[in-house]
Amino acid sequence: MRCDFFQLATTGVQGLQPYQPGKPIEELEREYGVTNAIKLASNENSLGASPLVLQELYKHLNNLARYPDGNGFILKHALAQKHQVDMNCVTLGNGSNDLLELITRAFVTSAHSVVYSQHAFAVYPIVTQAVGAKHIVVPAKNYGHDLVAMQAAVRDDTRLIFIANPNNPTGTWLEQAELKNFLDAIPNNILVLIDEAYFEYVDKPNYPDCSLWLNDYPNLIVTRTFSKAYGLAALRVGYGLAHPDVTNVLNRVRQPFNVNQLGLIAAATALTDTDHVLQSVTLNRWGMQQMTQTFQQMGLEYLESAGNFICVDVEDGAKIYQALLYEGVIVRPVGGGYEMPRHLRITVGTEEENFRCLRALQTVLNKR
Ligand SMILES: Cc1ncc(COP(=O)(O)O)c(C=O)c1O
Repeated sequence: MRCDFFQLATTGVQGLQPYQPGKPIEELEREYGVTNAIKLASNENSLGASPLVLQELYKHLNNLARYPDGNGFILKHALAQKHQVDMNCVTLGNGSNDLLELITRAFVTSAHSVVYSQHAFAVYPIVTQAVGAKHIVVPAKNYGHDLVAMQAAVRDDTRLIFIANPNNPTGTWLEQAELKNFLDAIPNNILVLIDEAYFEYVDKPNYPDCSLWLNDYPNLIVTRTFSKAYGLAALRVGYGLAHPDVTNVLNRVRQPFNVNQLGLIAAATALTDTDHVLQSVTLNRWGMQQMTQTFQQMGLEYLESAGNFICVDVEDGAKIYQALLYEGVIVRPVGGGYEMPRHLRITVGTEEENFRCLRALQTVLNKR
């Protein structure tokens, strides 16, 4: 007798759609017969990892039979120093996505609701749905988080609020005063997770470093990642900063070896190479200018972005995305769950990658 395993899955999981990652270059080349393709679809760092990290990793390749340090002591210690917090405020994750999931699983059940914004990062609905909690999706204001409306949306059963600053895919950001007002208004039995995955890239007035507020708000959790400005997306390392009591809860659900040894070594080394982060951020700044100036010349509207990616209005994102694939360029359509069918999200790459992407976009749009 066949078993319908889908029916066995929890109700929350039955309602999930698998996350759609950016198309890998190899897949595009195989399926579309193009060569020399470029990928500006997953907000990765086109500069790659720091050479210091690569050197350090080679030294540890002969140790792969050993489990990693389950406490991640060296990395946690370095992060605690960087943020001037106790080590027991730091939780490491297999990418910051791991933290988003861990926090939701630890604190939220089907009896709770989770608040996040329309157009917010796709993992928030996924982790909410996975635990069967209610989604309160607050309509965005000018594509960004509407904190006043988010505050008003909070209910008695709300346990967690996700805020991406800056947000992916919109690139919108929130300023210090509005975030502080928000935190002041939220009862401290509701966790507020501020996701700062793109923190290092932001160069906007009054953009806050929320990790400095942990003492003021015990219900605040700040997440960061090594996947973006540190160029370590493949190794999957992220972290959360929170009150020690929150960290204590997270450690109960965290898998014993959730961060791999090469990731731990790479991340700790990457923290020492501040020049590399600076180079990555500088490259992004130039690339962002290159993109926005060309969009202006092409008469395309775009959303001003604080991250390493930008959303541009091409009227029919899905169609232009497909046409770009034939030109060997992978970007990200943001219709579907992101509800932005007119836009494409393009990661800022090297000057050459940006140039190729913009030229392909021009070619494709001229054929319309
Ligand atoms: C806003 C935001 N948060 C978190 C993540 C998760 O990144 P990672 O799991 O690689 O740390 C991403 C990745 O794109 C993101 O855009």
